[in-house]
Amino acid sequence: MTEYMTITADMPVSRSPVIKLYDEAGFAGMRKAGRLAAEILDALVPYVVPGVTTGELDDIVRRMSIEGGGVPATLGYRGYTHSCCTSINNVICHGIPGDRELKEGDIVNIDVTPVIDGWHGDSSRMYIAGEAPIKAKRLVEVTYECLMLGIEQAKPGNTLGDIGYAIQRHAERHRYGVVRDFCGHGVGRVFHDSPEVVHLGRPGTGPELRPGMFFTIEPMINIGKPGVKMMEDGWTAVTRDRTLSAQFEHSIGITEDGCEIFTKSPAGLEAPPYGR
Ligand code: MF3
Ligand code: CO
Ligand code: CO
Repeated sequence: MTEYMTITADMPVSRSPVIKLYDEAGFAGMRKAGRLAAEILDALVPYVVPGVTTGELDDIVRRMSIEGGGVPATLGYRGYTHSCCTSINNVICHGIPGDRELKEGDIVNIDVTPVIDGWHGDSSRMYIAGEAPIKAKRLVEVTYECLMLGIEQAKPGNTLGDIGYAIQRHAERHRYGVVRDFCGHGVGRVFHDSPEVVHLGRPGTGPELRPGMFFTIEPMINIGKPGVKMMEDGWTAVTRDRTLSAQFEHSIGITEDGCEIFTKSPAGLEAPPYGR
């Protein structure tokens, strides 16, 4: 049975299996952190072009996180030493920024998590360097639709299974594979908290959604099979069959009648082609 617990601003928190229900102060905290995450992802748009290195993009994320009054949650997280993840083409997630230059037609996910006053704004979007083949663009589009269909199910009375089902149904209708090895997660004053938000499932199963629950939805969708392979660096996850993979992520909070998306783009740059 799922347990829930109301969390107020003065309570110390740590990762736990009990699902935290945050109060109005929590919503205010997540609004600030989520907005900064979205502003960073907005600002990256003109920089994600052929020739840029993922290390240069990481520098922008670090600088903007700090200028915005935050700090990247990933810096020093379990030995990770970068300010974001940059996952190109067949990389599913946790690609490490470095010397790799983007080339024409690359699709790349950039995942940022600035922390402000202890609150984690976790969000990612896909970007396209130059012009990509229609197959790649279609994957990116459908993956964004998967995220938004999941979010539509995020309301009191529904369960996590309703969210997973909506995502899986849409992806599989396009014969794409839904990654099983990584999921969304509770978020708030803890970066990766319970519950696990699996991107597939059956309607009406899993923990019930209640007002004050904060979590991410971050489906990873492959053109091919769902299988994952880990690279030697211990972070980079790639598709086992080497097909392209895409991902979008929002941090949300369940309200009385639906949910609030903390990481919504202030500039309306939710998904490519970003008006170019
Ligand atoms: N932001 C990622 C997520 O969505 C986590 C990255 S952890 C890192 O949960 F260490 F790989 F950066
Ligand atoms: Co993330
Ligand atoms: Co996340």
